[in-house]
Amino acid sequence: MINDKQPLINSLDKNCSAVILLKSVHMGSFSPRGISFVNLRVLTAMIHVQNVSKHFGDLVAVDNISFQLEKGDVLGFLGPNGAGKTTTMRIITGYMPPTKGKVHVADVDIFEDPLTAKSHIGYLPENPPLYEEMIVTDYLDFVADIKKVPINEKKGRIHYVMEKCGIFDVGKRIIGHLSKGYRQRIGIAQALINDPSVLVLDEPTNGLDPRQIIEIRKLIKGLSGDRTIILSTHILPEVTMICSKVVIINEGKIVLEESLKRLSQKASDVENILLKTKYQGDEVREKILSIPNVSDIRSGPTNELIIQPKKGVDIREEVSELVIQNKWGLLELHPVAHNLEEVFLKVISSAGN
Ligand SMILES: Nc1ncnc2c1ncn2[C@@H]1O[C@H](COP(=O)(O)OP(=O)(O)O)[C@@H](O)[C@H]1O
Ligand SMILES: [Mg+2]
Repeated sequence: MINDKQPLINSLDKNCSAVILLKSVHMGSFSPRGISFVNLRVLTAMIHVQNVSKHFGDLVAVDNISFQLEKGDVLGFLGPNGAGKTTTMRIITGYMPPTKGKVHVADVDIFEDPLTAKSHIGYLPENPPLYEEMIVTDYLDFVADIKKVPINEKKGRIHYVMEKCGIFDVGKRIIGHLSKGYRQRIGIAQALINDPSVLVLDEPTNGLDPRQIIEIRKLIKGLSGDRTIILSTHILPEVTMICSKVVIINEGKIVLEESLKRLSQKASDVENILLKTKYQGDEVREKILSIPNVSDIRSGPTNELIIQPKKGVDIREEVSELVIQNKWGLLELHPVAHNLEEVFLKVISSAGN
């Protein structure tokens, strides 16, 4: 027997793009006894990018990319300069039409119904749209009006974003007189003013000093939760600190899409060996490479050698014997995890080839 207070289906297979929530509801005194009404609601992805391309003349800045994000996802949109991050973000936020493809935000087509779609979005562009001559609170009041924040909610929203972004103490200052760190916070505050469920931040820590970077990262982390966030960056550690998912884009194409957990597992799958010897002639490299279980060798940043063994093979004994036999002077020999930086460089460089 079906209990009408329980959801019949809470979710489908995780790989399915739509989560169907079948929920029965009581209609109070209007409901005939014994009969309940079933309300079918389809929850789709918060952001759905489908086969989006953008051409600027002959240049293909974004090349047929697709991905989707659910509520609460924090996506690190990673790629070198010129990869197509800003262009993609402009398309997602409805500030630039794609040449091909579709974008839905909270189930609304951003180009068919831009006003509704944009009401769900907070956007911090590469260059935040700040009016330098304005006082911070006046500016936020102005943005709240543009974004049609209801008049009775405006004061509360301004208070909330100022508190959340830590800008209370500069509320009466002129924006142009503030540091880049503060201006970036004001940029994030204006993006949050309409209480968006989707936040798109284009290189939010770019151009900040190390202390400001730490503060902005902390701020962004504090904004996640129910919100869906896309954050572009060319700095890998930023992704590992803040994000739950990563999409790597290179020359307009997605070269990797992964949850951070899976990516970290992948990264630690292959354990390389770091070797440092007193003698550093070419023959060290040549002789190590001739060990049958060694598949690759390269130099690390301080002249150490990073040796990649064949999968699942421990080569430390063979390497140490070789070093001792040849009297190269063993200084260091230990495993190094294949880090995310290496995975990043690998996908970028193999995509380029
Ligand atoms: N408005 C534009 N007109 C012509 N080319 C552009 C325009 N915007 C971006 N591009 C080009 O598209 C490519 C991707 O740029 P962009 O999206 O800004 O990359 P990213 O943000 O990853 O650094 C670059 O080669 C850039 O020069
Ligand atoms: Mg950019």
